[in-house]
Amino acid sequence: MSTKIVTLPGDGIGPEILAPAVELLRAFVPDVEIEEHVFGGASIDAHGTALTDEVLAACRTADAVLLAAVGGPKWDTTDPAQPRPEQGLLGLRKGLGLYANLRPVRPVPALYDASPLRRDIIEGTDLLVVRELTGGIYFGKSGREPDSAYDTCTYTRAEVERIARTAFEAARRRAAASGRRAKVTSVDKANVMETSRLWREVVTGVAADYDDVHLEHLLVDNAAMQLVSHPADFDVVVAENLFGDILSDEAAMLTGSLGMLPSASLGAAGDPGLFEPVHGSAPDIAGKGIANPLATFLSVALMLRHGLGRPEDAERIERAVDEVLEDGMRTPDLAGGTLAPPPMADVPPEVEVGTAEMTTAVIEALAS
Ligand code: NAD
Ligand code: IPM
Ligand code: MN
Repeated sequence: MSTKIVTLPGDGIGPEILAPAVELLRAFVPDVEIEEHVFGGASIDAHGTALTDEVLAACRTADAVLLAAVGGPKWDTTDPAQPRPEQGLLGLRKGLGLYANLRPVRPVPALYDASPLRRDIIEGTDLLVVRELTGGIYFGKSGREPDSAYDTCTYTRAEVERIARTAFEAARRRAAASGRRAKVTSVDKANVMETSRLWREVVTGVAADYDDVHLEHLLVDNAAMQLVSHPADFDVVVAENLFGDILSDEAAMLTGSLGMLPSASLGAAGDPGLFEPVHGSAPDIAGKGIANPLATFLSVALMLRHGLGRPEDAERIERAVDEVLEDGMRTPDLAGGTLAPPPMADVPPEVEVGTAEMTTAVIEALAS
């Protein structure tokens, strides 16, 4: 039986990074059946809505969904009556029941100096953000009056409990693989928000089933600070939808660029997952051929691991990505305008490359 992957290129740099990712996927699953659909702004242009019923139905029948990014200035509006590309993304996550968003942050040594943070701060960092993806303020009642507007944040015990279990299970798996003590940092704003007090209560209750996992609670503002002051102290970070969104972009900079962070969005066992980079459609660099495709490649790796049951293939992609970075390949987001001179004679010099060269390098590294 062949594997069916629905691909959603979306907008901006989306198509530029999705095509190379499909090329990479074909190297592993030669008989993969790719079904591409318009999504986001492109779908608004074609059909007047960011996610059509047909596309959602197609995603439901896929083995997994690979998405690049949506949005852009063309569809930016403050008019609540106008459709927005991002509604497609939220509709897809909700429609597929993808409540658990995993965002691994694993800075690779070759990029320690690409980060604006000091190497000695980043060294040893290997964390996982577990973001609740189908609840909270993203999906509460919202509205606009002539002179006011509101968004509401609601969480049920059941919603908090299932994401907490995802986090504790992930911490256990990571500890088994690394030998480190398992730890979950639960992030909330329990000093102010009622939903956060429920969150803290439920997470503490779930922890009773995992006495091998150390649980700590951090207020979100303090968590934001500690992610850049002591990132290596984190293991699994579990947070509600909005906090997880913000903290993961912040954590991306530990890897050197937002263009490095992949994600897996998962729902009920057996249902198709959604795999996408954490970053957006980067309208500022769209069409220039310089977008970093590595977050999408690493999302393909997550798809192979969590969606298609091929963990060894996932590791091969991750190793190939590490290798090209060790070889000095840098898209401009990683080069920061100034390429560092090689620190030692046996370290290859850094070379600035575009999306196509980076793709070729990864595919060649896989073949060797
Ligand atoms: P963004 O993530 O698109 O870009 C932020 C900055 O990071 C930009 O300077 C961009 O050039 C850079 N960047 C991002 N990805 C990169 C890559 N792969 N290679 C090189 N540089 C990269 O965030 P934004 O500019 O705030 O948002 C632009 C649009 O994307 C908005 O419409 C937003 O809603 C949307 N968005 C979509 C998703 C998604 O589809 N999952 C995620 C975030 C934002
Ligand atoms: C992300 C994005 C989305 C989010 C937007 C585009 C709706 O920022 O995937 O992180 O906030 O979830
Ligand atoms: Mn985001």
